[in-house]
Amino acid sequence: MILSNDDKCWCKSGLKYNECHLDFDKKLQVLKKQCCTVPKRKLIKNKEQIEGIRKSAEINNGILDLVSETIKAGMTTEDINTLAHEYTISRGGIPATLNYEGFPKSLCTSINDEVCHGIPSKDVILKNGDIINVDVTTILNGYYSDASRMFMIGEVSDEARKLVEITKECLNKGLEAVKPWGFLGDIGAAIQKYAQSNGYSVVRDFGGHGVGLDIHEDPFVSHCGSKGTGMILAPGMVFTIEPMINVGSHKIFIDEDNGWTTYTSDGSLSAQWENTILVTEDGIEIISK
Ligand code: MF3
Ligand code: CO
Ligand code: CO
Repeated sequence: MILSNDDKCWCKSGLKYNECHLDFDKKLQVLKKQCCTVPKRKLIKNKEQIEGIRKSAEINNGILDLVSETIKAGMTTEDINTLAHEYTISRGGIPATLNYEGFPKSLCTSINDEVCHGIPSKDVILKNGDIINVDVTTILNGYYSDASRMFMIGEVSDEARKLVEITKECLNKGLEAVKPWGFLGDIGAAIQKYAQSNGYSVVRDFGGHGVGLDIHEDPFVSHCGSKGTGMILAPGMVFTIEPMINVGSHKIFIDEDNGWTTYTSDGSLSAQWENTILVTEDGIEIISK
């Protein structure tokens, strides 16, 4: 549909098109003519949606802060799940992973050689030396936010600590690579370069993703890739960056019994950090971390 200046903008802001996304559309049109892949309109969030995602993220961030204050050896991953679940419900939110495609719990807990999607259990007791990723996704009033952090339990090996730190730096390199009107592939390129220069490998079978109106939206955000390739990053896009970095091979396998828990194929350690970000006119806003 061709909009005139005085029509209401397609983003449903209620503003006139020429006071909202007219210049935005012109810019994307030019890039499209140069054969760039440009985001579909449904990936561009308006002010109201962004505010909704921010509110959801207040709960999501609160959960991770609470976990960070509480987590210690002797706790079970079920205990972490219970904490998060109750915190979410008491604030009017819904844990997005609970019953998502059959996932049975309110967050993911992935320990040591588990790459992602570990299922909390009363049989899994945290012990000194473990590294664990806690990945939380919250729905509030229909808006989604998603983030994860690593925690080191007690005294961890130098190898484990280094992996956790370098993986956080991988996320930072990815964040720094996000430029409005830049390329999606710049993110993966930056992460891959940094991970490999430290002797680590990048998991390829999972990536970041658009988020906000659903748990997983387009685009798929690869954590490896080439500069100057992939979708244009336009202001209003909300997505995650969540590198999974392995000490050994990038290869993974999924537990056949539960269909979720993902391990490194060679048993080496794996770490992950995840943020939800918004692309703004002049950079990024970290919405959930
Ligand atoms: N939070 C995860 C992500 O970063 C999604 C988990 S889906 C689940 O994309 F079903 F495994 F919980
Ligand atoms: Co997540
Ligand atoms: Co995610």
